[in-house]
Amino acid sequence: MRTYAHIAGTGSAAPERVLTNEELERIVETSDDWIIRRTGIRERRISSTERPESTADLATAAARQALATAGMEPAELDMIAVGTVTPDRQFPAAACMVQEALGAHNAAAFDISAGCSGFLYAMSMVHNAIRCGATQKALVIGVERLSSVLNWEDRGTCVLLGDGAGAVAVSAGPKEGGILSTHLRSDGQFWELLYSYYGENHIPNSLKSLDAKPFKLRMEGNRLFKKAINCLTEIALEGLEHNGMTADDIKLVVPHQANIRIIQGLVRNLDIPMEQVYTNVDRYGNTSSASIPIALNEAFRCGRLSPGDNVLLVSFGAGLTWASAVIQWSLSAETADADMAAATGAGLTFSVP
Ligand code: ACO
Repeated sequence: MRTYAHIAGTGSAAPERVLTNEELERIVETSDDWIIRRTGIRERRISSTERPESTADLATAAARQALATAGMEPAELDMIAVGTVTPDRQFPAAACMVQEALGAHNAAAFDISAGCSGFLYAMSMVHNAIRCGATQKALVIGVERLSSVLNWEDRGTCVLLGDGAGAVAVSAGPKEGGILSTHLRSDGQFWELLYSYYGENHIPNSLKSLDAKPFKLRMEGNRLFKKAINCLTEIALEGLEHNGMTADDIKLVVPHQANIRIIQGLVRNLDIPMEQVYTNVDRYGNTSSASIPIALNEAFRCGRLSPGDNVLLVSFGAGLTWASAVIQWSLSAETADADMAAATGAGLTFSVP
């Protein structure tokens, strides 16, 4: 009998601190108008060391909400896969910190570093582990604290990125549907378009509460922009074709939230209306691995997804990496009320538009 991997619960968490474009105007030479016109971003969340908002804290909060929605106990989990490029420590994996915080002592826990595609890469690992019978219940988490690797003097990057976490609980079952396919690609020849390196760190006075780390992120935005639209389109079409679908068969596209203009480029290439796409880049900026699961959680909780709907997830990021997943949605809206408070215990916040 074939086994299918169903999304049984979703969750997300974001730091309390909202950093607006107006505040950034006081840090680097930029303007609210430029940031909105070129990216669609109005504000982003930035974590603080004064609150429990580490990578592991954010991931655990999102995971708790996903588990509560799924009615799943941590001890039932046999796998925790975390997509992140900003773990709290080089090792052990953020996934192990989450495992410990949840008390998920029966789970294998590991991180995946695949730039902004980390969540979909992790989802692919879980999907295949379930399909081959090695896993029954799993968590897939995307989490980032990009504020800890930003160069706050570089206006070309510091206005774009933010912090947050999203999670899905995945359960094996005999009912046809759930995650229908995942497609992964990478091309290391373009690694220099986006990377972070060890070096002298600088954090402006206004952001001194941020945890300083000796990393800096560098990006060649203009070249990435064109690659992003092409790669997203290619991998979205590959996922659709694999399932014998066209974009018309998809209820909702949840793309990586890097820049509204990149999403608009994808929408043009797929020939779909913007209403078929979920976006929240205006409120979070680019949260890398966390962007798709945060958006997916919001889309579900605000009623954009019902059982039987086909959802297309599509990402692009550092590496380069790009990926897609096609999911036949299994969760009903009533489950969304399950436990919104589950992840707020640590003072973390969600927003559902
Ligand atoms: N405020 C004001 N001006 C700025 C800013 C800023 N924050 N940043 C750059 N500029 C200036 C530049 O200096 C340049 O000035 P010049 O013409 O005098 O030289 C001008 O704006 C245009 O710069 P471009 O880089 O050509 O602007 P562009 O329209 O390409 O927008 C952006 C830049 C937003 C970074 C865009 O290229 C982009 O979104 N790229 C993709 C980034 C991306 O997707 N990264 C994510 C993939 S991986 C991941 O998600 C982590």
